[in-house]
Amino acid sequence: MTIAISKILQGLEPSATLAMSAKAKELKSQGKTVYDLSVGEPDFVTPQHICDAGTNAMKAGFTKYTIASGIPELKKAIAEKYKTDYGLEYNPSQVVVSNGAKHSLHNIFFTTLDPNDEVIVPAPYWVTYAEQIKLSGAIPVIIPTEESQNFKMTAARFERAITPKTKMLLLCNPSNPTGTVYNSKELSEIADVVLKKNLFVIADEIYDKLVYGNNRFVSFPTLSAGLQERTIVVNGVSKTYAMTGWRVGWTLSPEKIAKKMGELQSQETSNPSSISQHAALAALTGPQNCVAEMLAAFTERRNYVAKRIAGINGLTCSEMGGAFYVFFNIKNYLGKTLGGVRIDNSEQFCLELLTQKQVATVMGSAFGCEGYVRVSFAAGLDILKESFDRIAEFVNSQ
Ligand SMILES: Cc1ncc(COP(=O)(O)O)c(C=O)c1O
Repeated sequence: MTIAISKILQGLEPSATLAMSAKAKELKSQGKTVYDLSVGEPDFVTPQHICDAGTNAMKAGFTKYTIASGIPELKKAIAEKYKTDYGLEYNPSQVVVSNGAKHSLHNIFFTTLDPNDEVIVPAPYWVTYAEQIKLSGAIPVIIPTEESQNFKMTAARFERAITPKTKMLLLCNPSNPTGTVYNSKELSEIADVVLKKNLFVIADEIYDKLVYGNNRFVSFPTLSAGLQERTIVVNGVSKTYAMTGWRVGWTLSPEKIAKKMGELQSQETSNPSSISQHAALAALTGPQNCVAEMLAAFTERRNYVAKRIAGINGLTCSEMGGAFYVFFNIKNYLGKTLGGVRIDNSEQFCLELLTQKQVATVMGSAFGCEGYVRVSFAAGLDILKESFDRIAEFVNSQ
């Protein structure tokens, strides 16, 4: 007899982005050159002053358990960031620091959701949302959006999806995987529905500093009075400071929720790494020119990628307002034979692109939106150039 997997985990879908990345790594280990645009990870090294803060923390003996919900200095710095950047007043006791924003989301779902509660999630959505909601016993209610509307969920569409079981809306702005950035009017209309229907919001704002062109980031709780107590903001250092491996994310929430999430964390994981917390503190309180430098590089790559997609016959994409992804439409190639293999869906497209051309991407179906492919442009221009040359060759191989 073997140990059985629990019923709840039998239904768990592994992360498609990490799975594609693992496949790419496997090919690399066989000696192949692989162009990996699958994972949402800045290619920059963590800025030196942040690494130094980690080293100094170790030397200074910050290598012990901390308060489970994070060191007070970091909580204070996070609260101050939201005051300085967005004019929002938070007490440090409303901050919970976790092992990455992914862990923050887990804490939120397990702290606030009961079985069969509904959470409205506009699609395409980040792969983890639906799985984590299901793990908590609640139900993700997926609202499709259209490329022609820049993948934005309208307030009217949101309102139509609300049922007596609806508890919250999960809004990722700027969006992974589409790069959509909502403007303040669109967000205000959504906020009005939230208030009218007495709902709550999880505002995943992890890409708040990565916004391009005329787009402006608006933090959800700033939209009207009363929203702050209905919103749990999620953010972290992974994307803004190229700190994916350090694993530091956080929430800003009403005090009661923060206290419970801290208690949950004290039983599940204890504190996030003490060293990483000191590095994150240096990231938030130190010089910010590294953020501007990385944004400039991302902007150049984003413009390059937009040009390349426009130049490939049959591919389209909507404007990439923020984050570092392009979600391009491959519907013109479904039902066609590429490199001798018939392609019927985005998963086959991505697998064949990886096998035939060694370019790793992620299928739209993983984000709840068939007919699209996500590419992360958090890679050097040389890699992007080679990858898009290969993507062009692939789609022209009919
Ligand atoms: C929308 C979104 N939220 C949260 C995360 C989690 O980030 P981390 O756990 O590295 O802080 C990611 C990472 O890909 C993301 O894209």
